[in-house]
Amino acid sequence: MLSGQQAQDDAGRYSTAGQRYCIGIVGAGSVGCYLGAYLCQDSALDVKFFGRETMALELAANGLSATSFDHQAYFAQPVAFYSSLNSLIECDVVLLTVKAPALVPMLTQLKRFLRPEVPVVAMQNGIGIGEMLTQDLTNPVLRAIVPFNVIKNRAGQFHRATAGNIVWQQSQHAAVNYLISVFNHLQLPVQLTTDITAAEYGKLLLNLNNALNAISNVPLKQQLLDADSRMLLALAMQEWLAICSKAKIRPVPYTGLPNAMLPWLLRLPTILFRRIAAKMLPMDEQARSSMWDDIQAKKRTEIMFLNGAVVRMGQLYQLPTPVNTLLVEQIKRLESGEAEPLSISEILQQVGRHS
Ligand SMILES: NC(=O)c1ccc[n+]([C@@H]2O[C@H](COP(=O)([O-])OP(=O)(O)OC[C@H]3O[C@@H](n4cnc5c(N)ncnc54)[C@H](OP(=O)(O)O)[C@@H]3O)[C@@H](O)[C@H]2O)c1
Repeated sequence: MLSGQQAQDDAGRYSTAGQRYCIGIVGAGSVGCYLGAYLCQDSALDVKFFGRETMALELAANGLSATSFDHQAYFAQPVAFYSSLNSLIECDVVLLTVKAPALVPMLTQLKRFLRPEVPVVAMQNGIGIGEMLTQDLTNPVLRAIVPFNVIKNRAGQFHRATAGNIVWQQSQHAAVNYLISVFNHLQLPVQLTTDITAAEYGKLLLNLNNALNAISNVPLKQQLLDADSRMLLALAMQEWLAICSKAKIRPVPYTGLPNAMLPWLLRLPTILFRRIAAKMLPMDEQARSSMWDDIQAKKRTEIMFLNGAVVRMGQLYQLPTPVNTLLVEQIKRLESGEAEPLSISEILQQVGRHS
């Protein structure tokens, strides 16, 4: 990986002075609004937010603020918010921050309104996003992986709850490099990479827990202190690590520990796990996965881009993925509302590896 500082020096904010870039944040929700609040601090950027009418009203009434666990705070008002995508035609770069299932419905509009040379930076979690977009869009598509959690604290206020550098696919686009330099300047560090696949695959390892949390139906902290749930997560991770190994991809570690150690850590007795993983356990007692939020809101989840991707890749590499397959099935049940999902211990019994 290259450092963010290098991006700043090579193609950064100072060398592009004088040029005013128009940035479109498409799908202004938690991630889009959080990042957008930073970009609004830079007078050389014209930041346009695209999203739902409800969000437009919320930001008009409250302004937009980004706060962080490390006490950084940025405020922006007024923000330019559009509930139609027509004004995308003015944008020089797009940060695409809708959830993965919303990408396909959005493609027609992107094709209609985006100038063909404008780079699109897809910020979704999951596997296959870039490939899916490039099948339909002629625009350059880049990927960026957001390692931290953003939650909405109150109307108009988006809060970064955890640490981590955004991992961003390296490119030669001046507008993209300019906004990376703005993030770095405002202490939201961006790491550039030429191996975005490794970054995607590493993030997926952590996101495999989203489904388990949604199925458990309890806060993340409580879920991770349950030995059965941790055993299932360890098994789901092992399935993915085996695929990565066969695909010869070394997933980027995001926890400070080598990825191969995570299943071992998860298998420790709860008393030991609690002590060793204290820093990794979410601070907020009530925090849950966004997949749980989606189920409650009766929305389609990102399951097919997360555990579903493990199942697809397992088929490709002829490796078994019984745990991820069962997790996908349970989330499908929750999405359809037609059948109760199996409990965590029932899933564990089905895979025949009860702790
Ligand atoms: N939040 C996090 O902590 C976090 C961290 C890392 C990565 N990510 C990833 O970042 C992506 C975005 O997550 P998020 O939490 O920011 O999602 P989010 O809060 O749901 O934001 C997406 C926004 O886009 C809107 N939207 C969807 N389709 C639209 C359309 N056609 N036109 C206008 N607006 C549209 C959504 O509205 P509706 O809800 O009404 O559809 C929602 O307000 C996901 O892939 C997620 O996995 C999130």
